[in-house]
Amino acid sequence: MIKQKEYAQRRKQLMRRSGEGAVIIVRAAPARIRNNDVYYAYRQDSDFLYLTGFREPEAMLVLLSEEERAILFCRPRDPEREMWDGAMVGLEGAVNDYGMDEAHDIAELEKRLPQLLRDRDRVFYDLGGDTAFDQRLIGWMHDLRETKRRNFNVPEEIHGLDHMLHDMRLYKSRDELRVMRRSARVAIEAHERAMRACKPGMNEAQIYAELLHTFTSAQCEPSYFPIVGGGANACVLHYIANNQDLADGDLLLIDAGAEYDGYASDITRTFPVNGKFSAEQRELYDLVLAAQLEAIDQARAGNQWDDVHDAAVRVAAQGMVDLGILKGDVDEIIEEEAYTRLYVHKTGHWLGLDVHDVGDYQIDGHSRELEPGMVLTVEPGIYISPHDEEVDERWRGIGIRIEDDVAVTKDEPLILSDGLAKTADDVEALMAG
Ligand code: GLY
Ligand code: MN
Ligand code: MN
Repeated sequence: MIKQKEYAQRRKQLMRRSGEGAVIIVRAAPARIRNNDVYYAYRQDSDFLYLTGFREPEAMLVLLSEEERAILFCRPRDPEREMWDGAMVGLEGAVNDYGMDEAHDIAELEKRLPQLLRDRDRVFYDLGGDTAFDQRLIGWMHDLRETKRRNFNVPEEIHGLDHMLHDMRLYKSRDELRVMRRSARVAIEAHERAMRACKPGMNEAQIYAELLHTFTSAQCEPSYFPIVGGGANACVLHYIANNQDLADGDLLLIDAGAEYDGYASDITRTFPVNGKFSAEQRELYDLVLAAQLEAIDQARAGNQWDDVHDAAVRVAAQGMVDLGILKGDVDEIIEEEAYTRLYVHKTGHWLGLDVHDVGDYQIDGHSRELEPGMVLTVEPGIYISPHDEEVDERWRGIGIRIEDDVAVTKDEPLILSDGLAKTADDVEALMAG
């Protein structure tokens, strides 16, 4: 678990970065209605979670950089409400258990927040997430400016917070890496359970249920909606229907990750429904795996973000030419991006509190340099549509992706999702066992 000390350090670091005279405002995610009076399971906003560890809706964090003071507006405890919905943190809990310097009833925001804006130079707040609150904030700032004979300073502008905060989130601490490893561990167990359970004639839904069994038993949630795509469904990149029968002789692609203490894992494996790869399936699988291993090897400090993708593409394009799936000269295929018909997505993304985590991929128009503490997925995939007339029939309808979670370190790439069967032989052995 991330300790309170670390949350406090993050707030302090953000306040120091924002400079003197800054007020930083971060809002909690709203609870969202699913239908009528039923709510979706609540998930805190990742920026808010990063700075507080606080998991209730109807909350607002205000940081005053000059005094290095953290103020939380949240719901006060309410015995009647707690009888229906369970324990609340409340104002005392916010101070005692969440390390806030002050806590106030969220109902007092209107009264107190304008006061906190007085005599500050800058406001940091991300506009656009909640237009009603945006308007209130702009209104308070306007009212302060209009105050007659004012003898105090008033912040003139609202600066975006995301750039500063998301750069902090990109670099993972030791404890964050520990938590992410744990998140990956739960996902590994889910994938193993699914591989062991899979038999021809089952439905994708039953495999999906096996994944949920592991996640729920580990008191985790899926970090995104799992993809369980048999046969050509693997070629549908965001397939989530998960309701078709699994045919003997087909592959099954599972893309599923856990969320543990807020942090996502994101793992994909592709394996034969009947436990044995066909010759074509194995050839293409070995190729995607070779591309992935080459790409992971590029996830090193000092390399660039693009090096990871470029390495995977070179191996995959060369391999597809060797197998006769693509025709022509490899350099030209890469130059003209002709491979993108079959290798359709980028090879990865940052990973953290969000599955597609925050942080810039480019700086001043140049691919970003990889540094220790950054975590990314490495997930090459080749997808041959069942309708692709340009490719020999025996390859059609095969979709393969292999995805692992990798931390950049001072030395070798650290595979957080290490230990889950990955070579074709190891996958077959796991399914037979
Ligand atoms: N599961 C989402 C992704 O792989 O990017
Ligand atoms: Mn994925
Ligand atoms: Mn991914």
